[in-house]
Amino acid sequence: MYKVLTLNNISIVGLERLPRDQYEVASEIQHPDAILVRSHNMHKMTIPPTLKAVGRAGVGVNNIPVTHLSERGVAVFNAPGANANAVKEVVLAGLLLAARNVCQAWEAAGALTGTDEEIHRQVEAQKKRFVGIELPGRTLGIVGLGAIGVQVANAALALGMRVVGYDPQITVQRAWALSAEVEQATSLDHLLSQADFLSLHVPLLEATQGLINRERLRSMKPGARLLNFARAEIVDEGAVVEAITEGKIAAYVCDFPSNRLKEHPQVIALPHIGASTYEAEENCAVMVAEQIREFLQNGNVQNS
Ligand code: MLT
Repeated sequence: MYKVLTLNNISIVGLERLPRDQYEVASEIQHPDAILVRSHNMHKMTIPPTLKAVGRAGVGVNNIPVTHLSERGVAVFNAPGANANAVKEVVLAGLLLAARNVCQAWEAAGALTGTDEEIHRQVEAQKKRFVGIELPGRTLGIVGLGAIGVQVANAALALGMRVVGYDPQITVQRAWALSAEVEQATSLDHLLSQADFLSLHVPLLEATQGLINRERLRSMKPGARLLNFARAEIVDEGAVVEAITEGKIAAYVCDFPSNRLKEHPQVIALPHIGASTYEAEENCAVMVAEQIREFLQNGNVQNS
């Protein structure tokens, strides 16, 4: 009997890939062979000596001590691409919300007081305050052309946007192979100088921590809108607040709320819901559960 410890709620559809007659799956279990995890921070936990594999039901592995586990011979699996559609859809929502100042306008409309007649009179002033921009012809810069970046590129192209991509590791040809007609930026700074919207889709690594710093925010096109559905640490939050206060960037849409961001009406900060759809949760759980099963039972590594 294989023992699998779940550190977060993992979709039942995925857990069903571990047959009950061969697997004991529970949130509290001694001597696990494998761990299934979503956002739980594993850096702080003691690694059980029986552990052979970890499955991250998502893409990023920054909550997992990958090097330490690899040194101990523990295989680490993730679910690349399994939640790409979910993230793409929330990025599209972010693009539209930021282009049309929807959240600020909604909040202001909710604060209107008086009779309906008085409210209707105030609406005129609000219309002037929340004039937005349209997407066709605007440039979307995408940093990171993995599964999510390419899906975002395709969706933006369908909306009539010009898309320019930059990836420190992979060339734009990969996006072309996935039929996204993305133009290639020669450098990140080249991308920043052109983008009306900038969307980040790189993993959190030493090289990407603070990638969008004060200097880079300064080299962005005035009035650009920044979207971060990757990881909070990729953007220097203090610098982004400064850039917004100075009117350098028009909006910051991210998936990571914080006290510092709360104060700013041009910030839309969501509670890490980018991959939170029933479909994505199922896809990720199925992908990692199957990888764990294949590894424990047959020693096969499908992705690690
Ligand atoms: C990811 O890395 O794919 C996301 O963080 C998934 C999640 O929200 O758990």
